Amino acid sequence: MNWTKAEDLPLVRRLIAEGFADYCEVLIDNFLHVEPDAIRRAFGHVPLAFHIMHSRFIERPAEELAFIAQRIRGFIRALSPMYVSDHLLQFTVGGRSVAFLPELDYERQGELVLDKVRRFQGMLEHTVCFENYPSILGSGRAQPEFFRRLVAETGAGLLFDFSNAIIAQRNCGVPTSAWASLVGAADHFHTAGYDFFDGCPAIVLDLHGTAVAEDTLELMAAARAARGARALTVTLERDHNVAYEAWRDDLIRVRRLYA
Ligand SMILES: [Fe+2]
Repeated sequence: MNWTKAEDLPLVRRLIAEGFADYCEVLIDNFLHVEPDAIRRAFGHVPLAFHIMHSRFIERPAEELAFIAQRIRGFIRALSPMYVSDHLLQFTVGGRSVAFLPELDYERQGELVLDKVRRFQGMLEHTVCFENYPSILGSGRAQPEFFRRLVAETGAGLLFDFSNAIIAQRNCGVPTSAWASLVGAADHFHTAGYDFFDGCPAIVLDLHGTAVAEDTLELMAAARAARGARALTVTLERDHNVAYEAWRDDLIRVRRLYA
């Protein structure tokens, strides 16, 4: 399961203590102001993984990024996470900050991003797994091919989010099968619920506030059957509508797939 904000800590610790989750994926950039020891004390011997949302490693000035990377590196050394993961996102468009973070333009930004990924991994002294984007626009059709290049040319990994792949399929017709070879080689996975936004056109959004959808569970079951029992991690993400019963029941449904 994931942990993104301090107020959810008692609930996350309770669900892990009761055996509904085996490890915790920490949104580490929300906790860079505390010391790694405090995180370790909060979780005891529970294995940890790191997720990063706002490194902005593609756009951030080098000096700022070096400071953040040095801080994350300290957490990596102290807590030995099972994986370190981040996102490929745009935080500004035409020089303006945007609230809804858009997908990359893989054709236009591809070379730059590959270079930034190599540098970022060098700064962290650690491989980074990047999460597939829940595409909305047609540019998302180039995403699986870009990830093939990313993995081959930078040594980075894929953190495959089943729900995001379903969203991209629903919104812009990227078949989930386009990810098959990458999924076969991936070790780390996400899943979550998605929401329908009744705009014009209607789209599906990755909001992490509902139960995992049936089509996502079907995709997970198919991937599980194709991959066999090779060791992996699957993180159920919940960030909104966080309540004990709902989170617990979703964890039970997901764990059933891997029993
Ligand atoms: Fe995710």
